[in-house]
Amino acid sequence: VPLYDFLSELPKCEHHLHLEGCLTPALLFRLAAKNNIRLPSADENPAYASPEALAKRYEHFDNLEDFLQCYYRAMRALVTEEDFEVLGWEYFTNAHRDGVQHAEVFFDPQSHTSRGVSFKTIVTGFYAACRRAKTEFGITSRLIMCFLRHLPVTSASDTMRAAIDGKYFDAIDEGESPKISALGLDSSEVGFRPELFKEFYLEAEKRNIHRTAHGGEEGDPTYISGALDTLHVERIDHGIRLVEDPELLQQVVKEGIMLTICPLSNLCLQVVKDIRDLLIKEFLAKGVKFSLNSDDPAYFRGYVLNNYLAVQDAFRLSIDDWKVIAQDSVQGSWIGKERKDELL
Ligand code: ADE
Ligand code: ZN
Repeated sequence: VPLYDFLSELPKCEHHLHLEGCLTPALLFRLAAKNNIRLPSADENPAYASPEALAKRYEHFDNLEDFLQCYYRAMRALVTEEDFEVLGWEYFTNAHRDGVQHAEVFFDPQSHTSRGVSFKTIVTGFYAACRRAKTEFGITSRLIMCFLRHLPVTSASDTMRAAIDGKYFDAIDEGESPKISALGLDSSEVGFRPELFKEFYLEAEKRNIHRTAHGGEEGDPTYISGALDTLHVERIDHGIRLVEDPELLQQVVKEGIMLTICPLSNLCLQVVKDIRDLLIKEFLAKGVKFSLNSDDPAYFRGYVLNNYLAVQDAFRLSIDDWKVIAQDSVQGSWIGKERKDELL
């Protein structure tokens, strides 16, 4: 790929990464053995015969739903605070290798609390990995708590309560960001409209907590406009179906909303047939800000650098195009001016 060295060394910010999406088959088998979690037998489900068989299963997904079933099933191996820290560390070591300097990462508390894992165990484990990434690699990070849109709104409500009552939205020290910096919204999109989660987003806005939501991945552009107008999100995760609504695209440009695009994820989940179907050049030409991200790297063939390389392979962008992408991803990060200046 042309510009390989340049892209490899480019300081990167990542904004669309599910920590649970870093759970590789190897780590899943290791944690399941440690925690005495029974995996399906080879008879029940041949995909779970071995880490290698499972990796093979992950080579093809029919769509988002097919992937999500694998993703939620795998999480059962995560039990202790240390498991969550190990998983977080799995991300940060790979991100460091790929030149990530700042990462805003998602986690799905409901997929663990529903199995009896406490909210505190999850956040404390992931946050420990974030702190270690800062000390050992100088990587700054933020945690984004996602609601699972396929679960009842009452479950999101319990999750919001746990975060508020545990003071996870409160600044730790003067000027420092809280343990949980933002709200996100993920899981099955179509049929689970953003408006369902309005009360939690307005509560977060009141508390100066940042807001984003998945939208326009499989869902039509009204899932994007709904998140902007009702949830007051500051960016849109995926958002690639924005191109279907030119008026909404103009609104996104005017308001400086950033899309967090995940090229390999879109390819693996059959959202696009080819990376070239992502209208990257149109977004650049029209001034739509976006960052490039890995979504669920244990499932979608690679971490963030592979996504940069896939885009370069498809579009042959210029160094100036890449500078725009890199600068927009710094400016779209939820960090102070000082940190932005360091990264620019
Ligand atoms: N959870 C993890 N990855 C996701 C994706 N790409 N879309 C929706 N929910 C997700
Ligand atoms: Zn995602």
